[in-house]
Amino acid sequence: MKTEEETILEKERIKCEHCQKCPLGKTRTKLVFSAGVPNNKIMLIGEAPGYWEDQKGEPFVGKAGQLLDKILGCVGFSREKNIYICNTLKCRPPDNRNPLPEEKEACREYLDTQINTLKPRIILLCGAVAVQSFIKNAFGITKIRGQWFDGPHNSKMMPIFHPSYLLRNDSRKKGSPKWLMWQDIQEVRKLYDSLQ
Ligand code: URA
Repeated sequence: MKTEEETILEKERIKCEHCQKCPLGKTRTKLVFSAGVPNNKIMLIGEAPGYWEDQKGEPFVGKAGQLLDKILGCVGFSREKNIYICNTLKCRPPDNRNPLPEEKEACREYLDTQINTLKPRIILLCGAVAVQSFIKNAFGITKIRGQWFDGPHNSKMMPIFHPSYLLRNDSRKKGSPKWLMWQDIQEVRKLYDSLQ
């Protein structure tokens, strides 16, 4: 039996399937609405679907997604068990270019419904595009990653590096992006464990 939240999100997904509010509705192969467990604990928001996501209709399934799953898995998070994953855009921008402001604006109602329905206590803003959607006048992600910000519905939001960035920076030395990500995800797990 579906929960009330699952029913609302399923209706929103169907609405989104028919969305033509921006030109990406015409060029997408598949809508990429969400993956994971719709719960009120933790949500990760990425940027936009890439090639593989567009093919499969699921967020973070390409190389970056596989790295993301590994990182989350290191502290016991997984899309099968306990985390809800979505993006600022639900359709792939051609050639994986950055989302345009008007695309983000057109797509925002779907993201807002996801947040307002689940009211997650923790929101991970994965990469600069997601950060800019929630934190105005944010300094670069390198400066603010790992910090907690107040988010919607009394949530705590943390900017984290995008896994594509980590793929381009392979070092694991102290202070490297991968090392910092490891610190950040452990902080996230601590807060998660403290939630009732
Ligand atoms: N990058 C993102 O930000 N989201 C995806 O779903 C895939 C790659």
